[in-house]
Amino acid sequence: MLLRTLGTAAGGGVPQWNCACPGCTGARRHPDRRRRHDSLAVLSEGAATWCLVNAGPDTAEQIEAHPELRPGSGQRRTPVVRIILTDAELDHTLGLLRLREAEHLEIFATRPVREALRERLGLDHVLTPYTTATWRDLPLPGMAPATEVAGLRISAIPLSTKRPRYACDAPVDDCWVVAVRIEDPGHRTTALYAPALATWSDAFEKAVAEADCVFLDGTFWDNEEPRHTGISGRTATSMGHLPVAGAEGTAERLAHVAARCLYTHLNNTNPLVDPTAPQHAQLAALGLEVAQDGMLISL
Ligand code: MLT
Ligand code: MN
Ligand code: ZN
Repeated sequence: MLLRTLGTAAGGGVPQWNCACPGCTGARRHPDRRRRHDSLAVLSEGAATWCLVNAGPDTAEQIEAHPELRPGSGQRRTPVVRIILTDAELDHTLGLLRLREAEHLEIFATRPVREALRERLGLDHVLTPYTTATWRDLPLPGMAPATEVAGLRISAIPLSTKRPRYACDAPVDDCWVVAVRIEDPGHRTTALYAPALATWSDAFEKAVAEADCVFLDGTFWDNEEPRHTGISGRTATSMGHLPVAGAEGTAERLAHVAARCLYTHLNNTNPLVDPTAPQHAQLAALGLEVAQDGMLISL
């Protein structure tokens, strides 16, 4: 399979329209530092079709930026767009509205995510005059077999009960946030996509050990970053994001993993948005990477 990183930023992107922090200012000065909302296109070789993991507010520009995602010549429209969701957060789902020109949308999500999007955001109501949408279940390992999509097998590993702010009173469920597991049975390769990791569970540990490539939550460098930068009175972990570094950090764990590991979903406060920051050398010493927009990875 081929993986194309369409975006690697957390909510707001880099730069964020209403922010003049060092990360956002640096990205305005150096356009190569700009990052769009995290999203991954997955292409199954031979199947001539692709799926998106997450669809943020800039999804249409992200698709248009890559020729392999554009409609084939003579094709008036991309017929079906398949979208797999890690959660119901706005930075991962607002793109569903932007994809309304598709003839058909096929959306894979866990039950609480589906219900939030359909009932709270009113997506069925809003999309019906524009396109048809099929909502499909994202199966959990051990509960149901992986779903076959365009030559790939997809499933979800539950990560957290964190609900989006617009659904903060919705029922508690451990599938509000999941890691998406994508397996290419032909090549026997697996990718894991987890842009919001609140806790490192045994199930997640197993999924990481089985993967060839892991995209992981790189929202915050350390646990105090949201407080130090003044964006929140809370720590990274209490916001549902394990930081990269420090005692709670994921870097030390990932350093022992066989898979290629890349951090994504970077917030504009994260020092890693500056390519000259010394934190890059710390990660490189552990064999870890920071994802960039537009990378192409073949598994
Ligand atoms: C998150 O990643 O924590 C959410 O996207 C935050 C938000 O946009 O409110
Ligand atoms: Mn987010
Ligand atoms: Zn900023």
